[in-house]
Amino acid sequence: MIPGDGIGSEVIDSARAVLDAVCARHSVSLEYTEFDWSCERYANEGAMMPADGIETLRGFDAILLGAVGWPGVPDHVSLWGLLIPIRRTFRQYVNLRPIRVFEGVRSPLRGADDVDFVVVRENNEGEYSEVGGRVNRGLPDELAVQESIFTRVGVSRIADFAFELAASRRGYVTSATKSNGIVHTLPFWDEVVAERAARHPDVRWDSEHIDALAAKFVLSPERFDVVVGSNLFGDILSDLAAAVAGSIGIAPSANLDPTKEFPSMFEPVHGSAPDIAGQGIANPVGAVWSAALMLEHLGHAAAAADVVAAMETTLRDEATRTKDLGGTASTQEVTQALVRALG
Ligand code: NAI
Ligand code: MG
Repeated sequence: MIPGDGIGSEVIDSARAVLDAVCARHSVSLEYTEFDWSCERYANEGAMMPADGIETLRGFDAILLGAVGWPGVPDHVSLWGLLIPIRRTFRQYVNLRPIRVFEGVRSPLRGADDVDFVVVRENNEGEYSEVGGRVNRGLPDELAVQESIFTRVGVSRIADFAFELAASRRGYVTSATKSNGIVHTLPFWDEVVAERAARHPDVRWDSEHIDALAAKFVLSPERFDVVVGSNLFGDILSDLAAAVAGSIGIAPSANLDPTKEFPSMFEPVHGSAPDIAGQGIANPVGAVWSAALMLEHLGHAAAAADVVAAMETTLRDEATRTKDLGGTASTQEVTQALVRALG
């Protein structure tokens, strides 16, 4: 467990209480080790994590993270000093973001009650690459070049993950592209996705240009089941989708190595929320749902389903919703309600 900064530790405390309750009910025993890696550590010791931090994590089955980031520490330090090394060293090539409009949560869209889909973002390559450079700094002919990296292995495995996930859901994949404008990498993406689709004849699929797809997320979000996209497209689509779902406070994410060779990482979508940190009002549901994704990944699907059912129960009741969802409950009250719902 890496609670991190700000509300990170508040929501991770809550997730831990819910895990304890659901694991007791299912006779699952989990062992935890907590690390104080954070911007606070960076301020005191000059690094987000120790030099052997990645080696330390290698032996674990899963990482549950709150949030890292704090005013005064540049965001690229917290990102590149902790999150990106974890995602890349451990080949967490899937970033998974389930989106649901729960009863009791108001979407900014009208009639969005049936929204239930998953964004599958490629998490290791694509547009977020270190290949490129800048020359002629400060001169009139200064220029910057950044290359996107799309590999056959990388596109195949993310497409396979999306098709397999869809086969366990409503059997429908949408692939995000822009092969009309980006003329090398995205036609390649389209070709490889089509090849992998042929291996999953049970799953229906289509391909949409990213601009039109963004519009459809807003106009008819209920039509999607699994949406797969490159690193950049997936990043943007998952934030858009989380906004459609109503609150950043409930959105979960998983950074997965589906091969299970390395630990996978589970974290709420939100950040450290310095504006509400320490007030005891953070919505813990995003962290709790992330913990449920962790249980599922570890092979405890029934326990994961119980956690989601407990979330449904507490979100339905105004008395157990936090301020971001129009309620008045504290983080602790929501946590207690979740634990109660798990009996
Ligand atoms: P943020 O997600 O921390 O906050 C955005 C807004 O949403 C704030 O008004 C906040 O109060 C609210 N909010 C967020 N989570 C909430 C919750 N659980 N319950 C109720 N309200 C909630 O994003 P922001 O302000 O842009 O970033 C703050 C810091 O967090 C930055 O340093 C940023 O780099 C970091 N961050 C870290 C992430 C990570 O660890 N993966 C992800 C996003 C941001
Ligand atoms: Mg993002």
